[in-house]
Amino acid sequence: MSDIAVLGIFVADISFSGDKIPTVGETILGDVYNVGPGGKGCNQAIAISRLGGKVNFISKLGKDNYGKLAIDKLKKDNIDTSNIIISNKHQTGVAGIHVDRNTGKNAIIVVRGAPASLTIDEIDTNIIKKSKIFLTQLEVPLEVTLHCLRVAKENGLINILNPAPACKLNNDFFKLVDYFTPNETEAEFYTGIKINNEIDAKKSAQKLLKMGIKKVIITLGEKGLFYSDGKEEIYVKATSVKAIDTTGAGDAFNGGFSFALLKGKKIKECLEIANKVAGLSTTKLGAGDGMPFLKDLS
Ligand code: RIB
Repeated sequence: MSDIAVLGIFVADISFSGDKIPTVGETILGDVYNVGPGGKGCNQAIAISRLGGKVNFISKLGKDNYGKLAIDKLKKDNIDTSNIIISNKHQTGVAGIHVDRNTGKNAIIVVRGAPASLTIDEIDTNIIKKSKIFLTQLEVPLEVTLHCLRVAKENGLINILNPAPACKLNNDFFKLVDYFTPNETEAEFYTGIKINNEIDAKKSAQKLLKMGIKKVIITLGEKGLFYSDGKEEIYVKATSVKAIDTTGAGDAFNGGFSFALLKGKKIKECLEIANKVAGLSTTKLGAGDGMPFLKDLS
């Protein structure tokens, strides 16, 4: 039995680090590369598990070398893989990631592979029903995400939706979400409000709350984060670190936040822990591989 059920994708992230992100038509010589676990759901599951949370990852893989890499990596990180479907018909996905080693910023194309074909019938919802928190993103088909959010809500779980990558959602989603965790670009997608400062973040959060979401956390990159539940508002500054790869920082945040919530911490402490986990994750190359362990937080 797990405490947190995470629905999402695994892809093999192939990250190339160089002096800048190439422009269209340009070839540059890079420094290092990494092939490791990626996909927002996988990264979030790794973050939770490395902090000490019991996590079950619900996903779909191909029966191929990257699928094997996924199972090996997830098991090594003590993640329950019993709810991962292995498909003979589909490939495991990959992501090509360019990283600017001076700023840690990146550009990503994800080819999801097997989980793009995930259906409601393939999901065994028992694992969700037995968990305390359900965490997901927007990388698996939306009808599957909505179905699982519904099951989780009907069974009294806390629902956390990291709306990434941003895409159009119907109102049913918003009503099922306890914590909605966009970054500033995703928040702008849903509200039309460009966030340049704390006042913009507040306006954006107010608009999201009006859509039926209970609590909003907008992550603001190097500017920190803003939380609002309509009554309490909290602003937290970003942790100061030398970032070499920001890929997966949002996933580290969501994993850290879910873990802290599971441990019964008050909201401000949950946000501070998540913020720290996110900051630490940027100090290593690779998304899943860059997730910190509990001991790194002290
Ligand atoms: O959030 C970062 C992740 O987004 C990467 O690991 C990449 O695979 C994409 O899914």
